[in-house]
Amino acid sequence: MRLLPEPSAQSLRLVFLLIFVMGVAPSPALTAGCSDRCVCDDQLVAQCAGQQLTQFPSDLPLATRQLIISNNEINDLPALDLNYLADLIYLDCSNNSLTQISRSTFGNLRKLAYLDLSFNTLTKIEERTFAPLISLFMLRMTDNPGLSNIHPLAFAGNAALQVLDMSRNNLTTLNVSSLVTLPALRSLGLSGNPLRCDCSSEDLCMWVQIQSFKFQDEGQTVCHSPEAMQGRRLAELGKQLRADCHRGLDYWDYLFFTVVGFIIFSAGTIAAWVMGVFMVLCEHYKKSNDEDN
Ligand SMILES: *[C@@H]1O[C@H](CO)[C@@H](O)[C@H](O)[C@H]1NC(C)=O
Ligand SMILES: *[C@@H]1O[C@H](CO)[C@@H](O)[C@H](O)[C@H]1NC(C)=O
Ligand SMILES: *[C@@H]1O[C@H](CO)[C@@H](O)[C@H](O)[C@H]1NC(C)=O
Repeated sequence: MRLLPEPSAQSLRLVFLLIFVMGVAPSPALTAGCSDRCVCDDQLVAQCAGQQLTQFPSDLPLATRQLIISNNEINDLPALDLNYLADLIYLDCSNNSLTQISRSTFGNLRKLAYLDLSFNTLTKIEERTFAPLISLFMLRMTDNPGLSNIHPLAFAGNAALQVLDMSRNNLTTLNVSSLVTLPALRSLGLSGNPLRCDCSSEDLCMWVQIQSFKFQDEGQTVCHSPEAMQGRRLAELGKQLRADCHRGLDYWDYLFFTVVGFIIFSAGTIAAWVMGVFMVLCEHYKKSNDEDN
């Protein structure tokens, strides 16, 4: 009795081929398979651009270092799938339909240096969204037409961030605290936003003026409102806003002091007058007493 079937020549050849492939494979990328609509190469690049994907590609090699999912219709980055790719260095998600990202989205990507979120439909960036990305060097987040809200601590924890591009979003203001937390920043893009230059932007304008060397296209970083400021460069407004927004006294203060001054003056005049009359009366009384005696 034969317990095992005799291996056929063909299946033996297959086994040998498999062992051979596994032996020479330079990386796990080749052996671990690849998502059907992506191309994974031995440089640990997974290329999935323009594949009409509506969901994040699953089954990517765990060792993937560079993932390109641009030009698709992906509306969500699932934290679980993404965080399996703990060796990712480069992630291009541009031109998709991403509506939100959060701190948990990037929970485990400690090597990620380049992140592109441009051409999506993000509306806000919350506190410490990118904090787990301790190696993040360049963040591109341009052309999100509804992106109007960046939390003051959105980039807290990104001490390595050198290039931040937020051009052509819908920002009317940006709390300068979000930039102050970036010690390594050397290039910032803010042009093409409907920036409002009033006293609430005073700190931002001042910062831009002092740090203008960091601006990518400082000449095009201009105010959109109020009307009087339209088209003026942020970098030239810092000192002016500082002066305008901290004019010691305004109109109502002057009016107040005038009225109070007038009351004090009148009170003094009346008091002096009453005193005068009183003294005259006293004098008169004394005199008539003296005459009586
Ligand atoms: C975005 O992706 C679509 C679909 O692939 C493409 O037709 C379009 O040109 C891309 N837009 C940009 C700005 O790259
Ligand atoms: C941009 O923000 C303004 C409010 O600041 C809003 O009215 C407008 O709809 C926003 N634009 C887009 C494209 O979401
Ligand atoms: C900016 O954010 C800080 C910290 O949250 C806050 O204290 C400050 O008032 C904000 N500045 C403006 C102009 O909103």
